[in-house]
Amino acid sequence: MDDTRWARARAQTQRFLPVMALAVVAVLAAACETNLPQSTTVIEGSHNATLWVPYRMVFILAAIVFVAVMALTVIFSITYRERPGRTARQFHGNTRLEIVWTLIPIIIVTLISVPTVNAIVAEAQPIAANALRVDAIGHQWWFEFVYLDEKVTTANELHIPEGREVAFNLKSVDVIHSFWVPQLAGKTDMVPGHVNDIKFTALRARPEPYLGQCAEFCGTSHANMRFRVFVHTEADFAAWLKSAAANGANPASALEKQGQEIFMRSACIGCHTVQGSAAAGKVGPDLTHVGSRTTIGSGILVNTPETLEKWIANSADVKPGSKMPPMAKSDGGALSKEEITAVAAYLSGLK
Ligand code: CUA
Repeated sequence: MDDTRWARARAQTQRFLPVMALAVVAVLAAACETNLPQSTTVIEGSHNATLWVPYRMVFILAAIVFVAVMALTVIFSITYRERPGRTARQFHGNTRLEIVWTLIPIIIVTLISVPTVNAIVAEAQPIAANALRVDAIGHQWWFEFVYLDEKVTTANELHIPEGREVAFNLKSVDVIHSFWVPQLAGKTDMVPGHVNDIKFTALRARPEPYLGQCAEFCGTSHANMRFRVFVHTEADFAAWLKSAAANGANPASALEKQGQEIFMRSACIGCHTVQGSAAAGKVGPDLTHVGSRTTIGSGILVNTPETLEKWIANSADVKPGSKMPPMAKSDGGALSKEEITAVAAYLSGLK
């Protein structure tokens, strides 16, 4: 290369340096945000705490390797580059170097294996005697939770006590899903025809729920397959469990009563259960206490009578691919707008 081309290359590099520096600062600043609801580095559950030890070690070692390799690459590229008065050359074969760069990975892998084996052993412990046992079942596109000893079934909102182990059987009725609550536990696949398990203890009760998410692509609304985990004190959990085990509430108003009648004579009961009523379908979410849930549609809409109406009218409008057929007459269903309003009022009353 001649001198002018070298000068141009240098000028170009200098122009890009501030941009690159800015990018590095932006990435570092983003890493300082600590309250990300779906960050696995926020440790709120025992499963996360166990995984965090090898995770952190791998991260640190990988960072050291990355920085060292990048630094050497840059230093060598500059120091030994071809330039006026210096011809670049290539050579291969250096026994001492090859021994060194074989030994370093062996040492790194050996170091990583220690906390890894510890974590595997910790995860393989038998289920605690006082554990809460829950079947978590993946559906396209929602989560079903069955409390095995309490005979309580709910959907998309999981309630658990703090400081007590929860042991899950992970199942699926259709395709592969994955159970993941980044701040608490996971991810572990939910495979049709095969039961996986995961267990964890939530470290503390808190008012805001933990966000869960299906972590395995499972079709159109994979991204809309979310759930929430509410961690309570033992006393609050016992109270929740008691209300969750109760039958569906009786309608409180004339509109709710009318909604109940429509619901019970419509296709709704073929798919949904309302405990203590004729509705005993198993295809869709159990609606016994749907009015007490904070969201509907597997966590995509805030639960209000208005969003329920929208959902009942044509759920695929708000959740692409939704398996629930449209109920609105205008969309090929059997219910008028007024009837949908009544059904939504009835469901909202199912606290
Ligand atoms: Cu279920 Cu992705």
